[in-house]
Amino acid sequence: MTIMRTLLLAAAVPVVFAQTQTQPAGSPFPSSTYENATDPRAQAGAVSGQTSPPKYPSPWGEGLGDWDAAYAQAHDFVSQLTLTEKVNLTTGVGWQSEKCVGNTGSIPRLGFKALCMQDSPLGVRFADFVSAFPAGGTIAATWDRKLFYQRGYGMGSEHKEKGIDAQLGPVVGPLGRQAAGGRNWEGFSPDPVLAGIACAETVKGIQDAGVMSTTKHYILNEQEHFRQGAPPASLGLNALSSNVDDVTMHELYLWPFADAVRAGTVSIMCSYNQINNSQACQNSYTQNYLLKNELGFQGFIMSDWAATHSGVSSALAGLDQTMPGDIAFNSGTTYFGTNLTIAVLNGTVPQWRLDDMAVRIIAAWYYVDRPGNQVADAPNFSSWTSDTDGFRHYYQSLDYQRVNDHIDVRGNHGAEIRAQAAAGTVLLKNTGALPLSGKEQLTSVFGEDAAENPLGPNGCSDRGCDEGTLAMGWGSGTANFPYLVTPLEAIKAEVLSNGGSFESVTDNYAYSTIAALGRRTAQVGGACIAFGNADAGEGYITVDNNTGDRNNLTIWGDFDLLVANLTAQCNNTIVVLHTVGPVITNSFVDNPNVTAIIWAGIPGQESGNAITDILFGKVNPGGKLPFTIGSSRGEYGTEILYEPNNGNNSPQDNFEEGIFIDYRAFDKLGETPVFEFGLGLSYTTFSYSDLGVQAHSAPAYTAPSGNTGPAPTYGTVSNITSSYVFPASIDRIWNYIYPYLNSTSLSVSSGDPAYGINYTWPAGSYDSSSQPYVAAGGAPGGNPRLYDVLFTVTATITNTGDVVGDEVAQLYVNLGGADDAKVVLRNFDRLTIQPGATATFSADITRRDLSNWDSASQNWFISSATKTIFVGSSSRKLPLTTTLDLSGIITGPGSGGNGTAPVYPSSSASGYSSSATSSGDGSSSASTSVGSSVSVSSASSPTGYSSSFTTSAKPSGPAGYSHSSPPAYSPTGYRA
Ligand code: NOJ
Repeated sequence: MTIMRTLLLAAAVPVVFAQTQTQPAGSPFPSSTYENATDPRAQAGAVSGQTSPPKYPSPWGEGLGDWDAAYAQAHDFVSQLTLTEKVNLTTGVGWQSEKCVGNTGSIPRLGFKALCMQDSPLGVRFADFVSAFPAGGTIAATWDRKLFYQRGYGMGSEHKEKGIDAQLGPVVGPLGRQAAGGRNWEGFSPDPVLAGIACAETVKGIQDAGVMSTTKHYILNEQEHFRQGAPPASLGLNALSSNVDDVTMHELYLWPFADAVRAGTVSIMCSYNQINNSQACQNSYTQNYLLKNELGFQGFIMSDWAATHSGVSSALAGLDQTMPGDIAFNSGTTYFGTNLTIAVLNGTVPQWRLDDMAVRIIAAWYYVDRPGNQVADAPNFSSWTSDTDGFRHYYQSLDYQRVNDHIDVRGNHGAEIRAQAAAGTVLLKNTGALPLSGKEQLTSVFGEDAAENPLGPNGCSDRGCDEGTLAMGWGSGTANFPYLVTPLEAIKAEVLSNGGSFESVTDNYAYSTIAALGRRTAQVGGACIAFGNADAGEGYITVDNNTGDRNNLTIWGDFDLLVANLTAQCNNTIVVLHTVGPVITNSFVDNPNVTAIIWAGIPGQESGNAITDILFGKVNPGGKLPFTIGSSRGEYGTEILYEPNNGNNSPQDNFEEGIFIDYRAFDKLGETPVFEFGLGLSYTTFSYSDLGVQAHSAPAYTAPSGNTGPAPTYGTVSNITSSYVFPASIDRIWNYIYPYLNSTSLSVSSGDPAYGINYTWPAGSYDSSSQPYVAAGGAPGGNPRLYDVLFTVTATITNTGDVVGDEVAQLYVNLGGADDAKVVLRNFDRLTIQPGATATFSADITRRDLSNWDSASQNWFISSATKTIFVGSSSRKLPLTTTLDLSGIITGPGSGGNGTAPVYPSSSASGYSSSATSSGDGSSSASTSVGSSVSVSSASSPTGYSSSFTTSAKPSGPAGYSHSSPPAYSPTGYRA
């Protein structure tokens, strides 16, 4: 649609724009052709090239699923709002302009407080008297739904008590494509089912505590290098483009986001990277089509910090809220704010789109009952100082007041964290050394990783160093430790309580001292326990030359040498690893003097107590690896892109391996893992028997019927521009982002020399008419029929040992197609079984679990290939197997979906037609005619979103208060 904006500047600006365009013919996300693709499906696509098709209009929220009550409340609320009040909800006030890492404007007239958005996925960031929970990867290693939920609820409660509205977590992007990915530890697992279940339970926990969860980073944010372009910034590269095909998108990366949406996550953060060469936060395909249409997401999309690259383009492509509000940190400029007000007044953003943004945000707020979960004087802490008093507007050095109430919100979470970390500890090797009896005459501990950082547990800003024991990675995914129990002190306390003798050497390079203590320990039949780690984090911090992503998979601190030196003397060496992901263990794994190996993950504040519980047998290990440990990084089949590969243009990261990451890659490539995905030993043993399969009747897989209503609007927007000029009653804060106009002239107010030029917006982006649901959609999480249970699998697990123990029984499926993975995880359960006793493992298989994605029909289908199921204790120990009887299930792509067998009586659920239909988006090849509009950059956007609200020089703080600099961070980035 071409908009002659100069014509719209007259006083009678038509506010509700004529909205009669129809959506362009639908097009599947291209199955990009990669010459060297190792997954055939990534090669044999209908459309070549890595582009992201335009998908408009942006779906308006309707209150689908269980969102109806929240939407009814939101409609009432938003109907009362003025234009600038609505805009205030969509825009952060600027980096460090208020106390949280992200803050919206407020609506004082209605008593609505500014929203506070705060990291992190493992606890409250930048606050005191909070808990440091185990990281995502460690809780994933528990494979325990109850603990996923418990941790989520604990974190949510602490956020609530600090007065936070949205916790910026959990993380399922990165999923963990590359073993060395810097932020994998913030997420759960490279397996989408484990990640999806862990994410869903975490979301429920956080939100049941009365706080909004922000599942992030959407999507394909799989590495830190080039996530925002450079480092180094001087290269001027655009953000890396993760190029993926449609099948891989659905069967792997989108999967856990679907689980998050289905679990009710009210907010999703779009990421820094591009997807198929369109920025994530203005990618109409991933936001409008996949997330809001196919997955039926009813909440709001929040940008990652400074990941917004345009105004109108982003709004039309589905972005609902820009954070922290300013274009670049502290620039004083914004793509939304004033410019969104202008865009609505001149018609470039239709009122219905702004209303949808506001409704989604307010519905999210009601959905988790934020009104019923307020605390006094929220937020009661400041991210920017730990002093009691400080500036409320930190960047501006304004409003010096009490900013930290130092409220202790930890409750009994310390005990829970200890149990969670122990439950997520994975025993990888044990030749009988463990558990320790407690009667050892001498117990010796080795390695810097056992001890405390000499600067204290919070000594390095955002944990941006690797000093002392590793209990958290680095970056924004951190929280301050309230204390950190080190392995050294906990083991020592245990040994002393048993009357034993204890010594340690925590200098990794004190070779002769290590050797001497090792020899002495061995001579008295004692135990040598060696601690090692490998760290990673967010790319704005570089630690030991690792710019977020790890440079390699080795264990840090020359640990291999330490172990070689120690094992030459000590024949009972127990290795404990605190690592952010897989590490290479080749040098010691088969050494007979290494009598045990434990992966203790990233355990949080109770690290020492948790590992002591395991070492001394107070807790029987039951954790299982959430990733594969191989013998070389090459075996993983994926690699970090460390060097730019596209000149000065966006680095191109082609996901040529398709769905084959982690254990799927090892299986496909015929590699033998050192420790496979799902592996974890116990102090007891288990046997598997009696596989059973029960088929269920389920409704047919049908497409949702009917259409949405037309886009609603709430309240009317006056086009008298003087109503929106900065109110004289408000003291304007320097560099703060506001929704108000600077002038009654929209052109002057924009401050953009290009204001008013002709521009063609993507076809369909103004269409407010009712839209068809897509076949795979219709409800939060996608078509509800995908979650129908088709089979239940049972097995008997017997504890064949002498002690009570936990076993995580795992269900895998082979989907039977030539291009399918050998096995994919589909379900699991953690069972506590008494010695000699049996337990029944029972796991459902849903329609989605048996389906493949068909790009042409844009729908899931069950192929006619034989479906084989496996049950066992790891991805490679699968003693029980059988095939599923698919008789009667309609199979094949484009067949109208995977309808259900006549043997399963079909009943049509309300709102669903009796037969599946092809996607309303059709299967024609991609129309890229307006594709360029999808990724309009700020530079080329005529929306003029360079408007500045910088009106005065930065004031200095009151006498006696210097404006202290934020903690140092790398020149390549910032600390958001
Ligand atoms: C950038 C990070 O990618 C994101 O995870 C975080 O929530 C924001 N900064 C805010 O700190």
